[in-house]
Amino acid sequence: MAKLNKDFLWGGALAANQFEGGYDQGGKGLSVHDVMTAGEHGKAREITETIEADKFYPNHEGIDFYNRYKEDIGLFNEMGLKCLRTSIAWTRIFPNGDETEPNEEGLKFYDDIIDELLKYNIEPVLTLSHFEMPLHLAREYGGFRNRKVVDFFVHFAETVFNRYKDKVKYWMTFNEINNQMDTSNPLFLWTNSGVTLSEDEDAEEVLYQVAHNELIASALAVTKGKAINPNFVIGNMISHVPIYPYSCNPKDILEAEIASRLRYFFPDVQVRGYYPGYALKMFEKKGYDIKWQEGDDEILKNGTVDYIGFSYYMSTVVKHDAQQSVEDNIVNGGLSNSVANPYIKVSQWGWAIDPVGLRYTLNALYNRYQLPLFIVENGFGTTDEFKEDGTIDDQERIDYLREHINASIEAVDEDGVELMGYTPWGVIDIVSFTTGEMKKRYGLIHVDRDNEGKGTLKRTKKNSFYWYKNVIDTNGEELK
Ligand code: BG6
Repeated sequence: MAKLNKDFLWGGALAANQFEGGYDQGGKGLSVHDVMTAGEHGKAREITETIEADKFYPNHEGIDFYNRYKEDIGLFNEMGLKCLRTSIAWTRIFPNGDETEPNEEGLKFYDDIIDELLKYNIEPVLTLSHFEMPLHLAREYGGFRNRKVVDFFVHFAETVFNRYKDKVKYWMTFNEINNQMDTSNPLFLWTNSGVTLSEDEDAEEVLYQVAHNELIASALAVTKGKAINPNFVIGNMISHVPIYPYSCNPKDILEAEIASRLRYFFPDVQVRGYYPGYALKMFEKKGYDIKWQEGDDEILKNGTVDYIGFSYYMSTVVKHDAQQSVEDNIVNGGLSNSVANPYIKVSQWGWAIDPVGLRYTLNALYNRYQLPLFIVENGFGTTDEFKEDGTIDDQERIDYLREHINASIEAVDEDGVELMGYTPWGVIDIVSFTTGEMKKRYGLIHVDRDNEGKGTLKRTKKNSFYWYKNVIDTNGEELK
């Protein structure tokens, strides 16, 4: 008997800001990403006030999908993709975010993309907001600190739901909504919510106000979407980096359990429709004054999600009495007591490679929520070398993907987890989110472009392209 359903959604995942380019084409406005420079290896990026002439902004050109989408979608079809997860750049539709009327040219661009995908029977899976808030909303309104931004977001969501209602079934509201729980890295609050912190503020209190507004925005989008087309399948999207206890010392176990609230707070609300007790207790103890409007409880209750989309790249470990500086800790979600896991290796960028952790995650999420799951990001960011014959032998990437797919199949076949699909991240090389580098490549298709923005942008299929095609063709039966 086949291990996966025949309609399993094998695909690839991308985000508009990281690959479209065309940042000033088609009437597009500036987004929070358009003022982010390229960072150095492993270091966070600079967020500038406006575009500065002597700085390099890698997302402006991305990989120029905006002008090459036919070629790229043709390649996705050749790879056998059954779905493509991408996002709609909010600023193509509402350049400043607070307009009443949408930009027709932006809407038309996504019509063309969606039609091109459907031509090949590739199902579009769309994220409404993948770190692409209009810069104007961030600068003039303070991003999701401001309740008005909820209305702007909902207007944007309704506009695209209405426009694409007969063509798109699968949606997600906010990408990795929970990674902003790490307020030690300003990048996350900025990209998720258009928020910057001032020194005299309590970062955590601001975060929970922002979170409340965004949870309301997400719930309203779900409710409005269902009213527009009851057949829509609308999920949330979280980053899941499981937190293991360092040892069987009960203090480590409890530490990991409590730290895991950083991962679960958002989905707890988006799935259950109400705040978890641990959060309410914390607000009370810390005296946080989170502004709640009349009717918010109902909004949350009515706008729960149909499935959980999540990214999985790595796991982390906490030890109750460990101490680390935030700088050492850049990939561990700001946990001040995280330590290295002696049982697993890390990538060149320090990300722990842990396929078993994916099976563990699938079980943990399914047992907690009993909702279908969708792995909408997973992958191995590394450098690539061309061989003399012009091919790229990316065996390490193939091994990473194989082991993670295998772990996912085990979760379905052995553990009974409901899994809708698997879309490896950056299926074609794109700009890295955290560092802005091109060198950190996830793609199964290589793009000739370097960290400084030089290169011909030529596309080349890597060995992983052919390997993944066979995985899809055999519905995961052949992983070798
Ligand atoms: C997730 C994001 O955090 O991880 C993507 O949703 C991002 O936008 C991906 O690109 C991988 O991170 P990075 O920094 O290696 O590009």
